[in-house]
Amino acid sequence: MMNPELAVLNTRPVITKAFSQERLVGWQSPANIALIKYWGKHGMQLPRNPSLSFSFKYSNTDLTVAYKLMGKTDSPKVDFLFDGKPSLKFKIRIEDYLNRISDWMPFVKQLHFRIESSNTFPHSTGIASSASSMSALALALCSIENDHFQTLENPKDFYRKASWLARLASGSAARSVYGGFSLWGKLSFLVDSTDEYAIPLKKEINTQFNDLRDAVLVVNSKPKAVSSSFGHALMDKHPYARQRYEVASNHLAGLYQALRTGDVENFIRITELEAMHLHALMMTSEPSFMLFHPSSLAIIQKIKLFRQQKGKMLCYTVDAGPNIHLLYPVEIQNDVEDFIKNDLIQHCENQKWIRDEIGTGPIRTK
Ligand code: PMV
Repeated sequence: MMNPELAVLNTRPVITKAFSQERLVGWQSPANIALIKYWGKHGMQLPRNPSLSFSFKYSNTDLTVAYKLMGKTDSPKVDFLFDGKPSLKFKIRIEDYLNRISDWMPFVKQLHFRIESSNTFPHSTGIASSASSMSALALALCSIENDHFQTLENPKDFYRKASWLARLASGSAARSVYGGFSLWGKLSFLVDSTDEYAIPLKKEINTQFNDLRDAVLVVNSKPKAVSSSFGHALMDKHPYARQRYEVASNHLAGLYQALRTGDVENFIRITELEAMHLHALMMTSEPSFMLFHPSSLAIIQKIKLFRQQKGKMLCYTVDAGPNIHLLYPVEIQNDVEDFIKNDLIQHCENQKWIRDEIGTGPIRTK
């Protein structure tokens, strides 16, 4: 049965009033980093366990969609430019995606889309662009729907539908339609939570975490050796899958509590455990794969030592790759930047690291 919260999915709008001019919609949407990791899925991109992330301030996708009416056609048509250059790979991927969602948004089959996208952050550096780009596209589609049909006037409906649509493109994109912390997946103690779309956690979060900083230490910027869809699929036969999903939910409950109460010690404990769980799952799947580099481990050891010796509240997380996210509160920014320059930068590829922080979420640009 369809979740009653998702009544807005059932509007299934079709354009009946012709328009001749090309129209324009634009969104800037952030990438996010998961603290509780989504790893393992089923059905239509439904998660095996709930996940929690925060969205970045500076790492964004800027996306514009110019669209015009085509009359009656069987499938949506897309021209796609990435960084100003046509990309056949993305064109095909987006046409396929629009076809998949066309039961819920039949108007996409009536339109010819010219999509231009670019990222404010470099490729393969520990910040995934699928979440920012797919959330930007989902937000743009919801804006087109609302501009023509006024079906998503209520902001809660708008963002939930955008998150739902983003999820169908890339699971982690569901969380990028919000700023701050967001949560995707059903939790018994949170009535609004659901596997269908993410929800924002703004009200619940202790002010301790308002100014969280993230220094992304780029150990290696080669594209991922293993795609996340391949990794998710390996969880279907993973010997530790059942335990993992149980532990992930417990971690989420613990982290949620820590975020609410300002419990920095538990925030650090659970965040680091989660990074290790993700990579342990990869190393113990069949085939097994290892995304850490020796430098990733060297950085992790140094972060732990720095915390022990200096008593500074900083910690790490890692996405599906070798690059390390160093998380810390704004108050210790100078100490952390000295630490990076003196001890960590030597492990980074071309001494590269990216400064980012928790952001306030997507904005409509056109
Ligand atoms: O959204 P996907 O299918 O690329 O999966 C993302 C998985 C992780 O980045 C490893 C974790 C997460 O929750 O973002």
